[in-house]
Amino acid sequence: MEMKKITVLGAGIMGAGIAQCAAQAGFEVSIRDMEDRFVEKGLTTIKANLERAVSKGKMTADDADTIMDRVTGTTDLTMAARDADLVIEAVIEVLEIKKQVFQELAAICKKETVFASNTSGLSITEMAVAACRPDKFIGMHFFNPVPVMRLVELIKGFSTSDETLGLAKAFVDKINKTAIVVKEAPGFAVNRILCPMINEAVFALAEDIASPGDIDNAMTLGANMPIGPLALADMVGLDTLLLVLESFHEEFGEDKYRPAPLLRKMVRAGYLGRKSGKGFYDYTIQKGK
Ligand code: 3HC
Repeated sequence: MEMKKITVLGAGIMGAGIAQCAAQAGFEVSIRDMEDRFVEKGLTTIKANLERAVSKGKMTADDADTIMDRVTGTTDLTMAARDADLVIEAVIEVLEIKKQVFQELAAICKKETVFASNTSGLSITEMAVAACRPDKFIGMHFFNPVPVMRLVELIKGFSTSDETLGLAKAFVDKINKTAIVVKEAPGFAVNRILCPMINEAVFALAEDIASPGDIDNAMTLGANMPIGPLALADMVGLDTLLLVLESFHEEFGEDKYRPAPLLRKMVRAGYLGRKSGKGFYDYTIQKGK
């Protein structure tokens, strides 16, 4: 099957990034979210990224327009997905919500449409069953910021067919990223290693081991990470990080995955990182608000 039309569910940071990459690779892309304002925000993010590339001389204004023309936004799931060859779900990390979306999609899409979930660590097999097409379901995990990060983890569920894996690999190749195939296990490969490290940085902060800036300096200057773990937590979103850690804690039943209480408190206080303006750092100051 030749893939032409991609539907992305969720116009947040990840959804917008995935939609942008697909449109840049020549796919027709429909991006769907629950409310107009979310859809608009996603489209604005893509436009801003393309404009930045134009201003840096990395693409022409005409190219940017052509790419933008390939993207449509809607709140209507049927309109977004009925003719899709591949649906990539990037909605909130709550299994029941994802399963519900896939159940709705099952009734809308063509029977050969491949479903992919950008989950950070939830069960692909459980979603695949809810989607009523276990062989045509795969995990397709992108990294933030999607237009920059070169990796995509592909996760085979219990019944994912080799054909589906092949189509997913071809898609990843076409959008110019590298795929690794990972066993279905909490957090797959990247988050299994990365999120406990970030969590440890939050514990270290709560224990007053060092300031946020110095904890980040420790890992940028001492371990050559491109940004420190607390800045990275702000970028990923503290709510997303908490959900990932909670799912590890529940699945493994091991205390080493217990989310740092400070992380939970910050999420409760609405400190979600860059997207809310405040996390371990204050982004409202930079924006002059
Ligand atoms: N969207 C699109 N492009 C972006 C961007 C964004 N949000 N942020 C930065 N960029 C681009 C810039 O335009 C620039 O492009 P250019 O090289 O073509 O000029 C390039 O990235 C470098 O940006 P900057 O020079 O402004 O900044 P940095 O050198 O600090 O790089 C970074 C930014 C690449 C994001 C770097 O900080 C980094 O690598 N951070 C770590 C990212 C990471 O670890 N991500 C994984 C998170 S875990 C995850 O996503 C999994 C999930 O399930 C939780």
